Amino acid sequence: MKKDLMYEGKAKRIYATEKPEEVVVEYKDSLTAFNALKKGSFDGKGALNLQITSLLFEHLAKNGVPTHLIKTLSATELLVKKVEIIPLEVVVRNVLAGSTAKKFGIEEGRVLDRPLVEFYYKDDALADPFLSDDQALMLGVVKESEIPQLKTMALKVNEIMGQVMGKAGLTLVDFKIEIGRLDGKLVLADEISPDCCRLWDKKTGEKMDKDRFRRDLGNVAETYQEVCKRLTEVLK
Ligand code: TMP
Ligand code: ASP
Repeated sequence: MKKDLMYEGKAKRIYATEKPEEVVVEYKDSLTAFNALKKGSFDGKGALNLQITSLLFEHLAKNGVPTHLIKTLSATELLVKKVEIIPLEVVVRNVLAGSTAKKFGIEEGRVLDRPLVEFYYKDDALADPFLSDDQALMLGVVKESEIPQLKTMALKVNEIMGQVMGKAGLTLVDFKIEIGRLDGKLVLADEISPDCCRLWDKKTGEKMDKDRFRRDLGNVAETYQEVCKRLTEVLK
């Protein structure tokens, strides 16, 4: 099934298959933060993120969000449709935290009246800078007609994910998704896991995501396991 390695990223490897329209995504155990200035890993991390992503992607697909997922091949490998990834990190925030809180000097935890959608330019050499809609058009990374479609998809993912996380006892503070083009349509791609979400425990307020690694809060593996367990209970 798996053929040549096409691409290796910080947390995943992409392999060609015998079909040009399908690729295998292998989830690695590595964990990076701050544009890979901080590196770590733990055993089973790739399998946990795969499990969480596949549960969420299947649920999103059932609820009308098309995704690139075809099927799970093994504990660390997914078969997905090959898409043309739009080089934007589409971030949705429900509660202010992380970079946008810092940028405006606002304390983390402010609940927003309406979800905030932001675009960041996916470019490691530039450390993924924030960019405006017009700057995205200037760079030629999206068509004008795609901008509202990206935002609509991001908000729909937010609504569905917010409900699921709520049932799992978690507040969906913010998250990042990547979207690809497939046969002229936009589909959700990449992953959704504690690596790219902020999740706060509803009862204790504890951080249940990659901030445990970024901020050296400890119990990183245990936290990913707990999120996977709760989502499995909610979605299986
Ligand atoms: P930020 O507060 O650092 O901008 O991140 C917002 C959310 O998006 C947070 O859940 C982490 C996620 N994210 C990524 O997964 N990768 C990225 O490169 C960026 C900029 C954000
Ligand atoms: N995803 C980015 C990295 O791996 C940024 C982060 O999550 O802090 O460096």
